[in-house]
This record gives sequence, structure tokens and C-alpha cells, in this order.
Amino acid sequence: MTKYLLLAVLTGFFTQAKAAPAPSNGIDLPRTYKNWRVIGVSHRDDNQSLRAITGNATAIQAARKGKTDPWPDGTILGKLVWKDSRHPQWQPALVPGELVHIEFMVKDSKKYAATGGWGFARWRGMKLEPLNNDGGKPCFECHKAAASTDHVFTRPAPLP
Ligand code: HEC
Repeated sequence: MTKYLLLAVLTGFFTQAKAAPAPSNGIDLPRTYKNWRVIGVSHRDDNQSLRAITGNATAIQAARKGKTDPWPDGTILGKLVWKDSRHPQWQPALVPGELVHIEFMVKDSKKYAATGGWGFARWRGMKLEPLNNDGGKPCFECHKAAASTDHVFTRPAPLP
């Protein structure tokens, strides 16, 4: 019994270790990202894609308290992007299709001072191919449009 339990634990450990992709811009894929909570959603009609914007525990706490100016160090925001697809049983419903990429903004005001206090990382497709784009500078350039909201575009979705 104990032997099987140990085997199960080890198998789980090695499967997980194998699945970790190479870092993007020196940032490791946050291991718990699939368990994070949702802050907002968005749809881009110029490139037909759906996005879920999520956050780690620090991000969620800041978002719920409205303390996002600035977001605290330790915050990680996630954006999970899928191509639009039609629900097979209900055509008018747009649902997540092919995974485009998953990306993250990691707040560390000292470490990432050169890019607004945020580290930028992206992994493409189901194979999680890491992007290395000059330390995320091109990401930061575009996110400057949201400089007045700490370089974050997303507003927490309204809830009562
Ligand atoms: C051309 C502009 C542009 C570039 C380049 C860009 N972003 Fe964004 N990003 C946006 C916009 C607009 C949003 C909010 C709308 C949405 O959900 O797509 C956003 C949202 C995000 C969010 C959710 C938090 C927020 O700010 O709303 C993350 C995380 C993110 N981007 C990461 C990245 C990373 C990592 C890169 C580079 C690999 C990157 N972005 C490059 C425009 C850009």
C-alpha cells in the first residue's frame, strides 16, 4: 500500500517536472496558474480571440480591495488567450477554441524597474514555447498606453 502511494507521488512529481517549459524572459511558468481566480474577461474582435485575465492570491486580494494603484509586489497577472470557436450545440455562443498563448506580468518594482516594475513572459500554444523578446521591452512599450493604471489595462469585472 505504502509502496503504491510512494510510486503515485513520485510519478506525479516526475510528470510535473517534465512538463515545466523553459523560462520566458528569465521568468519561470508560474506552476499554480491553472488554479488562479478570474479578474476579468475580454474579447478581441480584430483577431477573434477570447481572453481570461486571472491573478495569483496577491493579485486577487489587491483587486477585491481596490488596491491596484500600484499593484503590490508579488502580484502576478495571467492572460490566457484562445481563438474564438462556436459551441457545437449552440452556434451563437463563442467559446474557447485553440489555445493561442498564455502570458504573465510579474510585479517586482525593483527587479523590473526598467519595464515599469513588471516582468513580462509568454508561452505559445499547447507546447508552451517560451518567448524571449528583449526582456519583454516590446510588451512594455504597448502597455505604456495604460501607464495611468500601473501599466495594467484590465479593470476587475463588475460584481455586486
Ligand atoms: C500591441 C499592444 C500589446 C502588446 C505588444 C502586449 N500587450 Fe498585453 N495587453 C494589451 C491589451 C490591450 C490588454 C488588455 C486587453 C486584453 O485583454 O487583451 C493586455 C493585457 C495583458 C495582460 C493582462 C493584464 C492587463 O494589463 O490587462 C497581461 C498579463 C499581458 N497583457 C501580458 C503581455 C505580455 C507578456 C506581452 C509581451 C509578450 C504583452 N502583454 C504584449 C496590449 C498589449
